[in-house]
Amino acid sequence: MSLRRAKITAVSHYLPERRLSNTDLEKIVETSDEWIFDRTGIRERRVAEKGQATSDLGALGAKRLCQKRGLDPSEIDLIIVATVTPDMFFPSSACLVQTKIGAKKAWGFDLSGACSGFVYALATGAQFIATGAHAKVLVIGADVMTSIIDFQDRATCVLFGDGAGAVLLEPAEDGECGIIDFVLRSDGTGGQYLYMPGGGSLNPSSIETVQKKMHYVHQDGKNVFKFAVRGMVDISQELLAKHKLGPGDLKLYIPHQANLRIIKAAVEKLALDDSQVAVNIDRYANTTAGTIPICLSEAAESKQIKENDLILMASFGAGFTWGSLLLRWEI
Ligand SMILES: CC(C)(COP(=O)(O)OP(=O)(O)OC[C@H]1O[C@@H](n2cnc3c(N)ncnc32)[C@H](O)[C@@H]1OP(=O)(O)O)[C@@H](O)C(=O)NCCC(=O)NCCS
Repeated sequence: MSLRRAKITAVSHYLPERRLSNTDLEKIVETSDEWIFDRTGIRERRVAEKGQATSDLGALGAKRLCQKRGLDPSEIDLIIVATVTPDMFFPSSACLVQTKIGAKKAWGFDLSGACSGFVYALATGAQFIATGAHAKVLVIGADVMTSIIDFQDRATCVLFGDGAGAVLLEPAEDGECGIIDFVLRSDGTGGQYLYMPGGGSLNPSSIETVQKKMHYVHQDGKNVFKFAVRGMVDISQELLAKHKLGPGDLKLYIPHQANLRIIKAAVEKLALDDSQVAVNIDRYANTTAGTIPICLSEAAESKQIKENDLILMASFGAGFTWGSLLLRWEI
């Protein structure tokens, strides 16, 4: 069976209107705009409205994407939603998105890869195009992180925000542009450093799990930081070396937006210039599966990326999970 290359033919994003600035957070926990900005590069983040769930953000991003592409949602074959904050355990957020956008023909599933969720999902979706099984795959990275954040814990509540990004994958006709390759990794021994212990089959929700705040994100920030830099650099270098590319060949490097210091450390080790690096953490903080597609969507909107540009994505997140994906742009 000959494989065909998948190409991103449309990209879009949706961010909730409500802004939560560092100054707003100063009124909630003992922190300061200065501390947050110096340690993370974050100025503000977006917060979903009450009752607005991951599938709502994803569906709004997907609707914009369909408009851009002039696509009737009923043409979509498959919907993959990367998220760690699904509306509920089941039905999947993919099923909820499917009905909200009217993608009558599509099947779908959620993918749990934390901050690497979008890169995992993009690589997964590309396989359905490569084999010829499907012609139109919608890949969404979306999270409502504020639904699992303890707003009394200053070490985590300043880091996250809500948002969604979406891309459409279709076969690349010329075989030149599109997704070239990817490297995906996981290491379960890292699970102890970033996790949400409550609400699953190990610790089903109870008054006790709620009292112990087990339904919130728990993190050992220092360890995550260390592994994140090393992981993102390793997989970026691996993919560049495999394709005999140097830093100068990249038009845009899209790192997961967890902390500007993580991004800067990785960028320095990769010998990239700041002008090659997508950064929007100052405005949206860490939207988990949303960060990379939101960056891509903004880069496409501002025409920062053009036909034939090489783009390298790199992510690191809970699991640990990490991944890089190389593509040649053309819309
Ligand atoms: C969380 C993170 C910003 C903390 O930065 P740090 O430089 O490691 O800071 P520390 O955790 O050592 O804390 C230093 C001090 O600041 C304090 N502090 C933590 N959060 C604070 C806040 N929001 N405001 C003010 N002070 C804060 C700590 O209590 C600590 O005080 P102490 O020295 O009196 O004990 C950083 O570790 C990080 O970003 N890690 C990676 C997180 C991440 O990317 N997660 C998602 C992965 S996908």
